[in-house]
Amino acid sequence: MQLLIQECRVVDPASGLDQTADILIRDGRIAEIAPGLAAPSARVIRAPGLVAAPGLVDLHVHLREPGFEEKETVATGCAAAARGGVTTLVAMPNTRPATDCPEMVRAVMEKAAPTGVHVFPAGAVTVGQKGEALTDFAALHAAGAPAFTDDGVPIQNLALLRQALQTAKALDLPVLDHCEDRDMVKNYAVNEGAVSRQLGLPGRPAIAEELQVMRDAMLAEETGAHVHICHISTGRAVDIVRQAKARGVRITCETCPQYFTLTEEEVLRQGTMARVNPPLRTPADRQAILDGLADGTIDAIVTDHAPHCQWEKDRPLPDAPSGMVGLETSLALALTALYHTGLLSLARVVALMSASPAALLGLQAGRIAPGDRADLVLFDPEEAWTIDRDRFASKGRNTPFHGFSVRGRVKYTISEGNVIYQEQEE
Ligand code: DOR
Repeated sequence: MQLLIQECRVVDPASGLDQTADILIRDGRIAEIAPGLAAPSARVIRAPGLVAAPGLVDLHVHLREPGFEEKETVATGCAAAARGGVTTLVAMPNTRPATDCPEMVRAVMEKAAPTGVHVFPAGAVTVGQKGEALTDFAALHAAGAPAFTDDGVPIQNLALLRQALQTAKALDLPVLDHCEDRDMVKNYAVNEGAVSRQLGLPGRPAIAEELQVMRDAMLAEETGAHVHICHISTGRAVDIVRQAKARGVRITCETCPQYFTLTEEEVLRQGTMARVNPPLRTPADRQAILDGLADGTIDAIVTDHAPHCQWEKDRPLPDAPSGMVGLETSLALALTALYHTGLLSLARVVALMSASPAALLGLQAGRIAPGDRADLVLFDPEEAWTIDRDRFASKGRNTPFHGFSVRGRVKYTISEGNVIYQEQEE
């Protein structure tokens, strides 16, 4: 089985390649990358004007299965991933039951296998994500978990967190931490500031995130473990990571398109659709996220794809669940906000969404040199289009980006040499 992609712009940040060439794929692997390749029996995709990049790697996805299949299933979440150009993802453990034992890790991976999207379930840090007893990290890792997190339920017990980092350090695996002090944020809906005051609601203060990032940086320094900060959203949090990195601390971080595209004002326009944890912040925070992406403090762009049902989002702001879907819009939003504005090169945006996140968790993904698994995304970097949530493959329609004009569109997603998504004409 051979596939020949002709005349694409090959952008592979891991090898530094950025040139117009053909890509020959044989038996699920990249066989050759060079101009003018011939392969008479191959299926041909003509791709002039398209970029061929490593399949995107999303370290932060809520697939919801088991337990919340009305929001998303592994199958629909992976279909959304494919539609967004994502071929490898890390699934968050806040399912029901939580992914806190090897059987659960294996069950999610088995469900994902037929989809062609490579799914790595993160193991919970604590049993049932209850913040009381550590899970068996070694057993979870042996089953396939590349990292540990209690995402969605920030860890408050510092003795337990320190013990988790010591255990993770011994296995040389990262802990991914959702940083918000739970007593400060409770179940509040929005950032604490102008918008929360205008709405007359209590807010989630930036300091609730920053204190936890500071705490994590100090524990990473003390234990030598790798701490990865999830969905960073405030300027001061980015500064803390920047300074810790400068001291040689093993700390990395990710952000999401919503934090470099939107601000808390969006809640006034869109209500619950713009409710997410951590919350959308101020224009100064948004600018600081852009600065952190530009200077390399922020290591990866992820989605925090968090599908919810429409009836849940129809509740009043204080009662609706937090979260927004993102798999089918992340590449376009990143290209629009970061590349088309001139802030980052195309190769840098691709790196932040493939090679860099793969390297953070040691995943075999995010590169397309000869011999590598043939996981690719082909996209038109220029095409202007309008985001339409009614076309999503995800069950979740909860996006604040419906109707947004963006530039950059996924055309094909290829996993192990198989086309797992091809754009249909509208
Ligand atoms: O907004 C969020 N939604 N943030 C989280 O950390 C969890 C997520 C969810 O699971 O819905």
